[in-house]
Amino acid sequence: MGDALKVALLTSGGDAPGMNMALWALAHDAEGRGWTVLGVERGLQGLIDGSFRPLRQRELLRWARRGGTELGTSRVERFPASVERAVAGLRAQGVERLVILGGNGSARAAALLSRHLPTAFIPATIDNDVADSDSSVGFDTALDTAVRLADGIRDSADSLPRLFVLETLGGDTGFLAQAVALATAADVLLVPEAPLTMTDLVGRVETATRVNGYALIVASEGYPELVATVEELVRRLGTRSRISRIGHAQRGGAPSAGDRLLARSLAERAVAGLAEGESGRALWRRGEARWCAFSDAAPKRFEP
Ligand code: F6P
Repeated sequence: MGDALKVALLTSGGDAPGMNMALWALAHDAEGRGWTVLGVERGLQGLIDGSFRPLRQRELLRWARRGGTELGTSRVERFPASVERAVAGLRAQGVERLVILGGNGSARAAALLSRHLPTAFIPATIDNDVADSDSSVGFDTALDTAVRLADGIRDSADSLPRLFVLETLGGDTGFLAQAVALATAADVLLVPEAPLTMTDLVGRVETATRVNGYALIVASEGYPELVATVEELVRRLGTRSRISRIGHAQRGGAPSAGDRLLARSLAERAVAGLAEGESGRALWRRGEARWCAFSDAAPKRFEP
């Protein structure tokens, strides 16, 4: 069975559907190895404050099918300044292994902590912008949520044609919006990585309107001056338009089956790595969970 280790689990940054499933899977695998599992409440802030509580897979199973994170989370701007305090708290609890779920900022925090104890990072963010990972826990659910809303917009568009704009979350990246645009066969994608000229935008909307009677634009929330851009479009084309903002509704909801499976695979890889006494990132690459070094992290490139 191996050593009876004590592992702490922590969710960090923006919550993502599937985080709870990952927590359950981590506890399931850890308990299976005879380890004791602690949860850190409220993410990195809870780690700094020393907010720990025992976790059992039985308790977590009730939460596995729900959105959000049972442990709570937080955004901590200057974590490096608090690393020593966080490590002292972990030592005081007798924690020998740590798992952090979150986005790129959380991965950087995990890398810092890995200098002090074996630490695993699991990508969990709807933005799907995590370095070196093809997917992240929560992305599939957030994509599905937007697709369902776009279907609703199209029902209305077929009946009363106009210009429709659906704004997704995604932070300052366009990965989520791009997937939404592809899955909904949108006419135009607006992402911060590749802004369009007004001439290009007008041309695309006009073409779509000629073919389908209306146009659907999918925009990432990070697109610069989205409101002004749409207003200008309306002025030039003499059409009516409205921006539908999904907002935080896109971050919630029960995790999709895909996110649950991804959470399980990455959790299994993370626990296996920690059992070897290693630190690393459990990433999803080319259809499988891989264990990668923190030092190899390279920012994810957006391909338009
Ligand atoms: O977690 C990622 C994310 O949902 C982004 O898509 C979004 O821009 C951001 O978090 C919103 O953050 P907050 O909930 O702190 O406003």
